[in-house]
Amino acid sequence: MCGIVGYVGSDQSIEVLLGGLRRLEYRGYDSAGIAVIDPEGELHTRKRAGKLQVLVDDLEATGLPNGSTGIGHTRWATHGGPNDQNAHPHLGDDGKLALIHNGIIENFAELKAELLAEHPETVFTSETDTEVAALLVGFEYRKTGDLPQALLNVVARLHGAFTLLVLHRDQPGVVVGARRNSPLVIGLGDGENFLGSDVAAFVEHTHRAMEIGQDQVVTIRKDSVVVTDFDGLPVETREFEVEWDASAAEKGGWSSFMAKEISEEPAAVANTLIGRIVDGAVHLPELESLSGEILRDLDRIVIIGCGTAAYSAMLGKYAIEKWARIPVDVELSHEFRYRDPVINSRTLLVSISQSGETMDTLMAVKYARSLGARTLSICNTQGSTIPRESDAVLYTHAGPEVAVASTKAFVAQVAAIYLFALRLAGARSTLTPSEVSGLLSELAALPAQLDVVLEEQDAIKQLAGWMTDTRSVIFLGRHAGYPIAMEGALKLKEVAYIHSEGFAAGELKHGPIALIEPGQPVFVIVPSPRAKDSLHKKVVSNIQEIRARGARILAIAEQGDAAVLPYADVVIPIPLASTLFEPVLAVVPLHIFALELASAKGLDVDQPRNLAKSVTVE
Ligand code: F6R
Repeated sequence: MCGIVGYVGSDQSIEVLLGGLRRLEYRGYDSAGIAVIDPEGELHTRKRAGKLQVLVDDLEATGLPNGSTGIGHTRWATHGGPNDQNAHPHLGDDGKLALIHNGIIENFAELKAELLAEHPETVFTSETDTEVAALLVGFEYRKTGDLPQALLNVVARLHGAFTLLVLHRDQPGVVVGARRNSPLVIGLGDGENFLGSDVAAFVEHTHRAMEIGQDQVVTIRKDSVVVTDFDGLPVETREFEVEWDASAAEKGGWSSFMAKEISEEPAAVANTLIGRIVDGAVHLPELESLSGEILRDLDRIVIIGCGTAAYSAMLGKYAIEKWARIPVDVELSHEFRYRDPVINSRTLLVSISQSGETMDTLMAVKYARSLGARTLSICNTQGSTIPRESDAVLYTHAGPEVAVASTKAFVAQVAAIYLFALRLAGARSTLTPSEVSGLLSELAALPAQLDVVLEEQDAIKQLAGWMTDTRSVIFLGRHAGYPIAMEGALKLKEVAYIHSEGFAAGELKHGPIALIEPGQPVFVIVPSPRAKDSLHKKVVSNIQEIRARGARILAIAEQGDAAVLPYADVVIPIPLASTLFEPVLAVVPLHIFALELASAKGLDVDQPRNLAKSVTVE
């Protein structure tokens, strides 16, 4: 949720912190703040409600002494509204220590009471849980004179999920961080080191990164990095190379990150497939730990995810059940562990997450593991937590997704889960090698077909332009079109703030058809008329039923599908593809529609209200 950056190095820490925060702002944008220790050893902080630019303007207007040690924060409010007081950093009671935090300290009320019992004179200046942590670390530092130890003493008392970064004016050149179930990565520079919620915080400066495990504390100086566990004992660390370039996380001339990322949907699929289809077979050496024998022995798969990731999970279910003939359940991560699911060592839990940090998904993975399930993570973010907590990881290579609404990550997730489904089908001999090869060719054809769909952008923009006063939109789909209907509705809610619902078209007559009144716009994802087990006729009947009641039909249909023409007000054509591949094409017009409608309404599509990219609290 919040973005965190820490730096020790040159005397330009303000520039480094603001650059990092700019790249992390997608994580939260209610308020922002920095703390810096200047060369005289003075601590300076500045924090402002609003987007990062408010802080930047403020710093430009009134300046702040620069220094070589600093921390920065961009906030998504949990405790206390988004105002200057609640913005981070928070200070120790003597004003010498500054602390920033991502996550929720669940026992902060008890800790506050304990703190007040011991230090009744303490004045709280905010409504946050974070300030309690800052005060506690400040008191501990006074006792120990040792910043890592002070933080260790405090984290031992915290419940919940947190990343904390702290600096103290008596320890210039030192930033200490701690994490539990909340993201933090180290960036390794030359004469400088970094901490960040993700690698975006420092990729401009270094591509060398280091993971920090759960319940670990890190101390960075300009020429050293020390990582310990919560008992202060040294731990093994793992370095990795950040694969994408800083420019990948830049807008590069596009009007918004969302527009850029939609245009990257073909590349997101292509890059996810690169090197993974060899001689007509699936090649996934990274899944070595899930051997053919293990895959054959599975009796059930559960796929979990939230929001958009849950819709790619649904497509994964359709593909795995059809191709690999194994039962699959799809579940929202946040529902999964609260209903006592039946899980054992013959269950494979597949988690799907763009960020790799979604707390609901992380907790579900840990829960499934504790019950003996094997776990596979499909994830887009190197160095993130969920892959590290899983037995195996299949990375999507969509590149950094900065806009809050997920677009290119979705199509990459579908490509990855389809690859896995075909690997499973091969291992379980439910498809012949030539059937697998044929399906892989269809998968490999998607990027070029997605390019064709993107050519419809102008027509969809025009349609969106006509609909700026629309108050409600319905999306209908069947089978593989159903998750796409829900994805279309979610995207429109998120970025255009328009009430929208996605339904299975077959469910219409069981209730939702009551919503249809003259003029009601309804997007319909029409299945191909060519597919063997086609639902085409039934969906065309559904269209007729709602059209008879005055609905305005916006159909996404295969090129040349003449059957929908008489009943549709608008037809958005997509290239010919078979049943399970068609949805990957059909989703793109819906992404474009949400983008264009929100833009036509003058909204900030990259940072919609109330949202944050990475949902690191439950
Ligand atoms: C929708 C969206 C969210 C995310 C969801 C899961 O546009 O962005 O619904 O898909 O919060 O996030 P990840 O994939 O990071 O676990």
